[in-house]
Amino acid sequence: MKKLSAMAASCAPVTPRVLPTPLVSAVRISSDLAVPVYLQKTYWWAYLHPNGVRFFERQWLVNCILWGNFARLRDAALSEMGTPITGNTLQVACVYGDLTPKLVNRIAPGAKLHIVDVAPVQLNNLHRKLGGNRANVYLHHQDSTHLTFSDGFFDQVLVFFLLHEQPAGVREQTVAEAIRVVRPGGKAIFVDYHGPSKANPFRYIMIPILKTLEPFAMDTWDNEISAWIPPEFNIQNIRKETFFGGLYQKTVITKAT
Ligand SMILES: C[S@@+](CC[C@H](N)C(=O)[O-])C[C@H]1O[C@@H](n2cnc3c(N)ncnc32)[C@H](O)[C@@H]1O
Repeated sequence: MKKLSAMAASCAPVTPRVLPTPLVSAVRISSDLAVPVYLQKTYWWAYLHPNGVRFFERQWLVNCILWGNFARLRDAALSEMGTPITGNTLQVACVYGDLTPKLVNRIAPGAKLHIVDVAPVQLNNLHRKLGGNRANVYLHHQDSTHLTFSDGFFDQVLVFFLLHEQPAGVREQTVAEAIRVVRPGGKAIFVDYHGPSKANPFRYIMIPILKTLEPFAMDTWDNEISAWIPPEFNIQNIRKETFFGGLYQKTVITKAT
């Protein structure tokens, strides 16, 4: 905590922006791709500043932030993808903790995992966390709202705790892009916050926390993720499972064949 407040104090007056970081050989960093304003303004301390990355890249800490549910939610996402995971998989945005290493360990020989993030510092951190270049794992500097992959390129797409961090318009574009790049019959898997039941005491603990630190997160309490699917997509099935008294959800959207 002391470390975090010292870090916040030392960083606060600095204009939040991505600091120059050594480039990962496997990732081409595009100088044309700007870090979105909401990320710079709201989450710079968690995702952009190198001290923030160093601080938060701890399994126990991300588990605490999710009230002990990290492994359960991670495994719920992984179980949706099969063992081993075959075909082409996309993870939209880096995640602290061992989600991506576990994903990498599950991919079948010949299967491919692509991961995109808009922040170079996050891609560098992931590259380090994976122990360098890994066969059939590709890191891309891209924005979730403008993926460069062609329609239907992926068998499955995972979006893990990204939507609640994005403002409404951005979030809708992220959902649209995730579904666009999934093949007919493939799945877009979203794991995120969800409105807990009134009997869940965490409801009352989380309201002030989210309203203070995560200004867009309450949208995931008040809306179904399915409400953000653009009408042009043909959807075969939408399945939602909730966890921890409804505070978290996994929503799986299967595209029609
Ligand atoms: C997936 S979310 C939060 C995940 C979770 N809270 C965790 O423990 O890491 C955080 C990541 O999303 C990335 N991100 C935010 N907006 C993005 C966007 N528009 N496109 C791609 N990545 C984005 C951030 O750079 C950061 O690496």
